[in-house]
Amino acid sequence: MTINKIMVIGAGQMGGGIAQVCAQAGYEVILNDIQEESFTKGLAVITKNLERNVEKERMSEEEKNQTLSRITKSLDLTDAKSVDLVIEAAVENMEVKRKIFAALDEIAPDHTILATNTSSLPITEIAAATKRPEKVIGMHFMNPVPVMKLVEIIRGLATTDEVYEVVETMTHQLSKVPVEVNDFPGFVANRVLMPMINEAVYTLYEGVATKEAIDEVMKLGMNHPMGPLQLADFIGLDTCLYIMETLHEGFGDSKYRPCPLLRKYVKAGWLGKKSGRGFYEYR
Ligand code: CAA
Ligand code: NAD
Repeated sequence: MTINKIMVIGAGQMGGGIAQVCAQAGYEVILNDIQEESFTKGLAVITKNLERNVEKERMSEEEKNQTLSRITKSLDLTDAKSVDLVIEAAVENMEVKRKIFAALDEIAPDHTILATNTSSLPITEIAAATKRPEKVIGMHFMNPVPVMKLVEIIRGLATTDEVYEVVETMTHQLSKVPVEVNDFPGFVANRVLMPMINEAVYTLYEGVATKEAIDEVMKLGMNHPMGPLQLADFIGLDTCLYIMETLHEGFGDSKYRPCPLLRKYVKAGWLGKKSGRGFYEYR
């Protein structure tokens, strides 16, 4: 099966990045969101990223314009009627994702593969909202998508080998590196990363050190490019909390309990970089 046209659902930080790399690789991309404003913001970030590539002579002005011309706006899920692959990158919430997948199942042609960029939610449960679980798969990109090489590929219980191979090949087309992992809460990336971030929040909550000190220890001591609190702000504190809740519920183990300070910040609307304030403030 050949993929020509893709719908990316959610024009936030991940959906925008996924749309950009797909369009750069030559795919026709429909970028869907429920809010016009999110699409406009997402497209502005993509344009800025591509302009930087032109400035750095990694891309010509013509290639930039061609890439942008391959991205079209959608505020209506029925636009999925003409695509070969959907990559869903809406919020990390099972109810929202199941609704989207159930609707897509009715709209998209029979051959269409339905992928989700979920950070932690079970692929098998999302697939069960459709009548085509064999064509549902996880494609977990890392943030920032244009820079990070990894895509975790996660099969649901029913995903066929053929679907896996199409998605693996397509990931190579995007110049990314696919790594196959099994369908367990948090997969590999967030099962390992998120408890570290949560522990950093506990370290702050218990007054062991300031946020700057915690980040400095991990940057200089472990050679991490960002400290864990800075990284949490970068990912989005709402996403971090959703992931911890998935791990906590999925494994039933108290070691994954989300730190109350993380909950408090999310309740306050301090979602990190995307909302202008998290552990740090952003202009
Ligand atoms: N979008 C596109 N490009 C970006 C970018 C963004 N948001 N942020 C940085 N870049 C590009 C810059 O343009 C720059 O490229 P050029 O100079 O070649 O043009 C390059 O990345 C390096 O950026 P900077 O020099 O500004 O800064 P840096 O060296 O500190 O790198 C970083 C920035 C790549 C983000 C680095 O800090 C980093 O790797 N941070 C950790 C990222 C990480 O851990 N990501 C995984 C998060 S977890 C996840 O994604 C899974 C999940 O489910 C939550
Ligand atoms: P975000 O908050 O930046 O963007 C989410 C976007 O989805 C928003 O523009 C919102 O308007 C849109 N949206 C919400 N409901 C929708 C619907 N029903 N239909 C269409 N659009 C809808 O979030 P994000 O950080 O881009 O995360 C998106 C997904 O990617 C989540 O599942 C998250 O777990 C996953 N993810 C996030 C990261 C990260 O570092 N932030 C990394 C990997 C995977």
